[in-house]
Amino acid sequence: KVLVFDFGAQYGQLIARRVRDLHVYSEIVPCDITADEVRALEPSAIILSGGPASVYAEDAPSIDPGVLELGIPVLGFCYGHQIMAVTLGGEVAHSEVGEYGPATIERERESALFNATPLTQTVWMSHRDAVSRVPEGFTVTSRTEVCPVASMECPERKLYSTQFHPEVRHTEYGQQILSNFLFDICGLEPDWTMDNLVESMTAQIRERVGEDRVILALSGGVDSSVVAALGARAIGRQMTCVFINHGLLRKGEPEQVEEVFTKQFDVDFVHVHAEERYAALLDGVTEPEEKRRIIGTQFWKEFFAVAQELERDGRPVKYLAQGTIYPDIIESGARKTGGKASTIKSHHNLIPFPEGVHFDLIEPLDHFFKDEVRELGLALGLPEHIVYRQPFPGPGLAIRIIGAVSPEKLEILKNADAIVREELDAYNQRLFEATGERNSEHSCWQYFAVLPDIKSVGVMGDERTYARPVILRAVESSDAMTADWAKLPYDVLARISGRIVAEVPGVNRVAYDITSKPPATIEWE
Ligand code: XMP
Repeated sequence: KVLVFDFGAQYGQLIARRVRDLHVYSEIVPCDITADEVRALEPSAIILSGGPASVYAEDAPSIDPGVLELGIPVLGFCYGHQIMAVTLGGEVAHSEVGEYGPATIERERESALFNATPLTQTVWMSHRDAVSRVPEGFTVTSRTEVCPVASMECPERKLYSTQFHPEVRHTEYGQQILSNFLFDICGLEPDWTMDNLVESMTAQIRERVGEDRVILALSGGVDSSVVAALGARAIGRQMTCVFINHGLLRKGEPEQVEEVFTKQFDVDFVHVHAEERYAALLDGVTEPEEKRRIIGTQFWKEFFAVAQELERDGRPVKYLAQGTIYPDIIESGARKTGGKASTIKSHHNLIPFPEGVHFDLIEPLDHFFKDEVRELGLALGLPEHIVYRQPFPGPGLAIRIIGAVSPEKLEILKNADAIVREELDAYNQRLFEATGERNSEHSCWQYFAVLPDIKSVGVMGDERTYARPVILRAVESSDAMTADWAKLPYDVLARISGRIVAEVPGVNRVAYDITSKPPATIEWE
């Protein structure tokens, strides 16, 4: 496997992803991991990511110098390039002119890292500091007009680094450079497949759990369903799937989840009716992070209560498994990213345990992106209607109702959302039939209705109305990290708008959100 040292969350995940795209397994580790810890993980290669800091900044992250002495091949990018230089006795200087965006490198000499790439090529740069003197034993392999050391290497020690970012698509030969490192330099084989992954993840769960008992936080979405399938393979009925119905689910959803997990899967399934407890807790709460905190905290309490109930037979429940994926962690800030990403929103599954509640967490998907989780789901034999379900946030409709949640607003939103889903499911199906692709260029990745806390004037049947608008949100994406609003045909938009106003009492207007992420996020709260 390849270890990616993370010097600033936004970069690390992309590198790990690119390595997996080349069919080599990779994992992200915090940059302050020690040489001994690295040795114990037995990686075949190490990649040092970029990061936002300057190597000379006061609390700039550094690496254990021993890591570079292990004999394991190392490739550093940007900050990783500079940290390699200073750690080994080279120098980094602050330059007058930074380089941001595309740049042209001229190669200085033959280098295995650049096999099968031209002497002059376009790369993506983003830096002000630059290596001004390479460490002893290193040679410069390329430069740009402003950057004298665009890449350097010491092949005898298998150390390589680039000032530019091979992991971004704008670096013309980025994927070739990465593949040269992994296959030509490290001698790895592109033999990592979803089937291998299923096998190794199943084995890991079995080994970790032993004879202990597990409850699974099951929402019925693709992430938790994949964990359910993995868990069922690994430990069978040592695991109980717990579905908390918080009353904030979409129309028809609780019934559908119950149907799938009691009839199509051979698992222990518990349906907890927590609708009233959630309604009481959320009464009058308007602040988005406060809503998220209340919902997330109550989830833990509900799971704990179920665990205590199960434990009455005298066998303790030690673990809670859940379908946390990588973007959840990134957006929630701090946890597991070494605290270097800022909090955009607190995902429900990453809220700290309240007092008196404790589980050991099993989160087998916490390094993966949504599209990878879907592939894993297919490899596990999950039905397509689960694998291709659009994502739905754990806090549910509460974060799509702006302001306080009430039964009246919930009813409006459920009905409007059902129409949006019906129409856009059909639209996606038509695209699928035309292109044969599930996530083709214009298909919607996630689509729903949002209910803002305002009213507007309208006229229906010659009468004045003063009622609520519904906002349609539909985005194209592959991993939720970035998204663009879907360029839906006008006739589809017209049909959705017409149906919502005609069929949902209390709504007299429909607006379409035409903002990408960034600067907006997919959800409204
Ligand atoms: P945003 O709104 O941050 O959403 O662009 C990115 C993706 O994450 C989903 N989301 C959540 N999923 N728990 C979840 O399981 C949450 O608390 C949560 N908040 C947002 C959102 O639906 C989108 O797919």
